[in-house]
Amino acid sequence: MKRRVGVLISGRGSNMAALLDAARDPDYPAEIVLVISNRPHAPGMALASQAGVEARAIDHRRFGTDRASHETVIDAALRDARVEIVCLAGYMRLLTPSFVGAWQGQMLNIHPSLLPAFPGLHTHERALAAGVKLHGCTVHLVTDAMDQGTILAQAAVPVLADDDADRLAARVLAEEHVIYPLALRAFAEGRPAVSAPADAVLRNPLPNERGLA
Ligand code: GAR
Repeated sequence: MKRRVGVLISGRGSNMAALLDAARDPDYPAEIVLVISNRPHAPGMALASQAGVEARAIDHRRFGTDRASHETVIDAALRDARVEIVCLAGYMRLLTPSFVGAWQGQMLNIHPSLLPAFPGLHTHERALAAGVKLHGCTVHLVTDAMDQGTILAQAAVPVLADDDADRLAARVLAEEHVIYPLALRAFAEGRPAVSAPADAVLRNPLPNERGLA
C-alpha cells in the first residue's frame, strides 16, 4: 500500500517535481496526492497540475497575520486528502508549534545546507562567506526548532574556487533532487536514514546503487 504524501511549496517546485518523477515508478512506496502552495502563482503549481496532481493554492495573504488560521485550512486539506506524510519542498513560511506538533514524525523538509551548518536563509552565500570547502543539502524531520530535526539524508558537493552563490546553489540543487526522493522512499518504507555522498566528492556510487539506501 503506497503512503499518501502531501507536498507544500512556495515557488519553483523543482524538488516537488523530483518527488513526482520518483513516484511515477510503480515500485515507489509513496504517491503524491496533493500539492499545496501558499502562493497562488507559484510556478510549481502548474507543474503539479500538468502531472495530474491536485494543486491547491491556500494564499497566506488572505489570513493576514493569523498564521494559525492559514495552517488550519492547510491541515484540513491534507486530512481531507488522507495525507500520511507531509513533504516541505521550498515551503518558505515558518510553521507554528501546533501545526508541527500535529504532523510530528510525519513531516520532512529539504534544506540547502549540510545541517547543522547554516540553518535558515541564504545558505549558499553564508557557505561561501565562511569559506567551507564542502557544502550540500539535508533532508530532515521537521520539529519546533528550525532546521534541527533528525537528519534523514545528506549529500555533499565541493565548493569550487570560482563559485558564486548561483553556481553553488545549482550544484546543491542537483543533489537535492537525488536525496529527497531517496529519503522519502526510505521513510515511507520505515527504513533507517540514508546518506548519499555526491559522486563529485567521494566518487562513490549513490547508496541506492550499492543496494544500501
Ligand atoms: C530548495 O533549494 C530548498 O532546499 C530550499 O528552497 C529551494 C526550493 O526550490 N528550501 C529552503 O530554503 C527551506 N528553508 P524548489 O522550489 O525548486 O524545490
